[in-house]
Amino acid sequence: MNIGILGAGRMGGTLGKLWAKKGHEIFFGTRSPEKAIELSSGVNMRGGSYEDAAKFGEVIFVGTPWEATKPLLDSLEPLLAGKVVIDCTNALAPDYVSLLIPATTSAGELVQSWLPKSHVVKAYNSIGSGVLPAPDYNNTKATGFYCGNDAAAKKIVHQLIADSGFEPIDCGDLTQARHLEAMTLLFLNLAFKQNMGGKIAFKLLAR
Ligand SMILES: NC(=O)c1ccc[n+]([C@@H]2O[C@H](COP(=O)([O-])OP(=O)(O)OC[C@H]3O[C@@H](n4cnc5c(N)ncnc54)[C@H](OP(=O)(O)O)[C@@H]3O)[C@@H](O)[C@H]2O)c1
Repeated sequence: MNIGILGAGRMGGTLGKLWAKKGHEIFFGTRSPEKAIELSSGVNMRGGSYEDAAKFGEVIFVGTPWEATKPLLDSLEPLLAGKVVIDCTNALAPDYVSLLIPATTSAGELVQSWLPKSHVVKAYNSIGSGVLPAPDYNNTKATGFYCGNDAAAKKIVHQLIADSGFEPIDCGDLTQARHLEAMTLLFLNLAFKQNMGGKIAFKLLAR
């Protein structure tokens, strides 16, 4: 698939490279012309402006800091109409132990409200960037939870999560992003307050 990455940082940059290795065509959007050239050097990868990435992708990955996300998406909204938008953002407060938004909504739902004509799927937000390159733990894949309102969009994201090496689990509609985003607080607590480190990952067990 043609995937436009908005924010080629720890999340977007790493996932773009993983998807490129799986044969997807990646366009990294960045504010930096130098970084755009650097990102264009790999197979199936090119780089340019955010606007060009938004035009290129059938699927768009949003990997920007929370405070940068609304202004960026507002500026690109017409280009993203009808597209699948993967939102991995967390509205983290500076203390990293709370969220900047009330529990009655979520970053995923807010992103959907800013992009009413796009199909937003929440995914990857509770996965540490350090886990992305190695999601396999002794032949057990870490879980890639996702949720969204559009069944066709979720089917596409399900496959992209599998392509990146995680076990995709559909959590339901986009209101479930409230729980997925709260899981990030648990992740941060375990990783950095309980000193388990950033390479821990969530796994859903079922029988
Ligand atoms: N890091 C994690 O482990 C992790 C895990 C799950 C979810 N998340 C979420 O994923 C999102 C990205 O996190 P990250 O750790 O990947 O961040 P990051 O490494 O800092 O990358 C964010 C990217 O966003 C772009 N950016 C920064 N400020 C911007 C602005 N004002 N306007 C437009 N673009 C801007 C930058 O790209 P350019 O400079 O190239 O334009 C940067 O590479 C956040 O919402 C975070 O909560 C992070």
